[in-house]
Amino acid sequence: MNRPLIGTIRVVSDKSITHRGVLLAALARGRSVVHDPNPGEDCAATRRAVESLGVMVRCHPDHWIIDGNGLREPEDVLDLGNSGTGLRLLAGALAARPFFAVLTGDSSLRGRPMERIIRPLQAMGARVDAREGMLAPLAVRGAVLRALDFENVTGSAQVKSAVLLAGLGLRQGSVCVREPRPSRDHTERMLAWMGAPLQVSRVGSGDHDLQCHDRGVRDQASLVDAYSVRLDAGAELQGREWRVPGDISAALFVLVAAAITPGSRVTVDGVGLNPTRTGALDVLQRMGARLDIRPDPPAGPEPTGSITIEHGLLRAVDVGGTEVPRLIDEVPILAVAAACAEGVSRFTDVGELRVKESDRVRSTCGLLRALGVHVEEEQEGFGVHGGRGLRGGHVASHGDHRIAMSALVAGCAADGKVTVDSLAMVDTSDPGFLARLAILRGEQP
Ligand code: S3P
Repeated sequence: MNRPLIGTIRVVSDKSITHRGVLLAALARGRSVVHDPNPGEDCAATRRAVESLGVMVRCHPDHWIIDGNGLREPEDVLDLGNSGTGLRLLAGALAARPFFAVLTGDSSLRGRPMERIIRPLQAMGARVDAREGMLAPLAVRGAVLRALDFENVTGSAQVKSAVLLAGLGLRQGSVCVREPRPSRDHTERMLAWMGAPLQVSRVGSGDHDLQCHDRGVRDQASLVDAYSVRLDAGAELQGREWRVPGDISAALFVLVAAAITPGSRVTVDGVGLNPTRTGALDVLQRMGARLDIRPDPPAGPEPTGSITIEHGLLRAVDVGGTEVPRLIDEVPILAVAAACAEGVSRFTDVGELRVKESDRVRSTCGLLRALGVHVEEEQEGFGVHGGRGLRGGHVASHGDHRIAMSALVAGCAADGKVTVDSLAMVDTSDPGFLARLAILRGEQP
């Protein structure tokens, strides 16, 4: 008998926003106070890196106080652990600083593509060196940068952010990033919030419209098909105080767990509803999930709200195209939902998943196969034959937090025990995940 998930919770604070909060506070003048920072290893690595750059960070259990007073050359290599966001954003931020720095990470991060940031940074005049194959460690020696007009074809927010953070060091001209597939805009929101002169342009058809109670949350960005942002030279950031919202990517694990487990009803409060991150909610709505979204009154740079979901029958769905950057981290958990939905779901244009913490096309297909689901793996995507139930099995996480968490969610609805080879990497993003799942299932954490 599968235990239903019942209750109202907050999820862990947003990882992407915490990285940016600590980095931009380090680049700003004056004091910033970041309330509820994400407590995972990835954000701790970014925090330690800015401390090594001479920034004073005082860590309290529920807030970090960061005093921006310029950066200085680090004495040693900066180790960003498993965090692509930390390493790529920092490389951009350091490109115009007058010193030398080496950035590295764990074996997964040292195998991930860095050419995507090295090329545009070099086009700005940055001096960035790397291992064979343009892999980390990266060596960055600060240089005088020039203007750049850049087309972000990968749809990667990390690349866009690296270029914008390099742009903070421009002495003249501007950087412009154009995106045919708009990616998450946390960096832009926070830059504007801290006083940087940004110009954003959006062109859209409005066909991916989050249905929720208050139409006000349907920010312009959810209607966008093409996007560009420009940052002019001479931007100066001012320290600020604000709260990190709950992580919508973390929320999706419990929301899908409830959607696929009979008898469940879960509410997640205080969670980020940035429209550049809510693609997975649109997909669940298309699958017929019983979803209720209620925005909070606006406060701070990011929209938030609460989401309630109940178990219900799901139908197969097609996921692809311009919505992919809006749900890129949620594909593994949406694949679990698809395995429980009637019919064949198709995930296309998700080749970027092959260069995440693991090759997530392969590891997601492996996860579903281990639980008895028929999947078809392709180069740029996969198909899931859903609706025949999940059985117990042993899942290989490939050292990837999102695969391990997706497997545990699948275990909530499977008709046998689901085990995972290692849960160690869950701590990179969400150290409280297991306890939260247990509480919702009425178990001792
Ligand atoms: C992130 C952007 C995404 C996402 C990652 C976090 C960010 O990567 O997969 O988990 O914080 O900017 P890409 O922008 O490279 O797709």
